[in-house]
Amino acid sequence: MNDKPRVLLVGAGAVGQVFGTYLRAAGCELSFLVKEKYAEEARRGYTLYALEKRQRAPEPLFLSGFDILVSAPEAARRRFDQVWLCVSSTALRAGDWVEQLARHTGEATWVMLQPALDDRDFLLRFIPPERLVSGMIPFLSFHAPLRPEDTFPPSGTAFWFPPLARGLFSGPPERLGAVLRTLRAGGYPASATGDATRAAAIPTAVLTVTVAGLEAAGWRFERFLQPDSLERVHRAAREAVRIVARHTGARASFVPPLLRPALFKALLPLASRVVPIDLETYLRVHFTKVGDQGRAILRTYIALGRSAGLPVRYLQEFQS
Ligand SMILES: NC(=O)c1ccc[n+]([C@@H]2O[C@H](COP(=O)([O-])OP(=O)(O)OC[C@H]3O[C@@H](n4cnc5c(N)ncnc54)[C@H](OP(=O)(O)O)[C@@H]3O)[C@@H](O)[C@H]2O)c1
Repeated sequence: MNDKPRVLLVGAGAVGQVFGTYLRAAGCELSFLVKEKYAEEARRGYTLYALEKRQRAPEPLFLSGFDILVSAPEAARRRFDQVWLCVSSTALRAGDWVEQLARHTGEATWVMLQPALDDRDFLLRFIPPERLVSGMIPFLSFHAPLRPEDTFPPSGTAFWFPPLARGLFSGPPERLGAVLRTLRAGGYPASATGDATRAAAIPTAVLTVTVAGLEAAGWRFERFLQPDSLERVHRAAREAVRIVARHTGARASFVPPLLRPALFKALLPLASRVVPIDLETYLRVHFTKVGDQGRAILRTYIALGRSAGLPVRYLQEFQS
């Protein structure tokens, strides 16, 4: 790889723009692969805000001067060291663009960030394991304003890292090392772990079920925190954690006893105070946007649970 890694980011949404900002800070030559409908917006460049405190707008960060591709075969006209997949799990499977892009990106390292348990296996159909690095996303990001009437954050893409958050990555040592060096050079908090998919599997399971419960409660914390709602959520979360632990080998015996209604009741108000935006609104907007991905993840848990003979009764209640 040369001194200035050449990076192609697929998807210039909330996550792609944040990684683009850090990779640019690391000195990377950036290209984005975007859908045709977003090309003009991409050509104007992006404005981002790294949030710290409520109602205190930070200095804007500008991201521009990158190459824009609107189809996978166009990648053949450039050489890339890294390809970052900044789209949802369901977008990975929409059409044959992954297969096409794999054909046109030579020996590039691919970095996947998707949360579904079967995403890595899907990508391994096109990318050899020696070139695939897996990561998880520790920050929140969104297109501001979340509601038309909001004046904070200013219009652009806002992002926030929880205190002490680190992005975990795993993969073949040489490729992983190059990805971590690049990210750290740009100031991104990145660490290696044995298996990023496994490390994220149980938090993802609890989050997915919590979000399904919140959606069933009309995206209102007040309704979500009612005893019957919490009862369904904590039981479904226990089912999901057992299934995921069985499937990934993640150590989880200590988790189900913790998953009690009281935990959700305590954590939600705490999280609402720590996050520097209206958490209820963010969760509604973000998880409506990636709703097809959440439903697909739930379906996978139920299918895996059934085939392993594990209970799925409460998970099924959240299937719409
Ligand atoms: N944002 C967060 O806070 C956050 C946090 C943790 C994890 N994640 C995960 O990160 C992933 C991306 O989330 P996001 O918030 O960045 O979503 P997003 O804002 O919707 O960005 C994804 C972008 O990629 C585009 N896209 C989809 N397929 C594409 C393709 N084949 N080629 C080029 N562009 C394509 C989408 O277009 P359309 O608009 O047409 O769909 C959209 O513009 C999801 O799996 C999400 O769960 C996000």
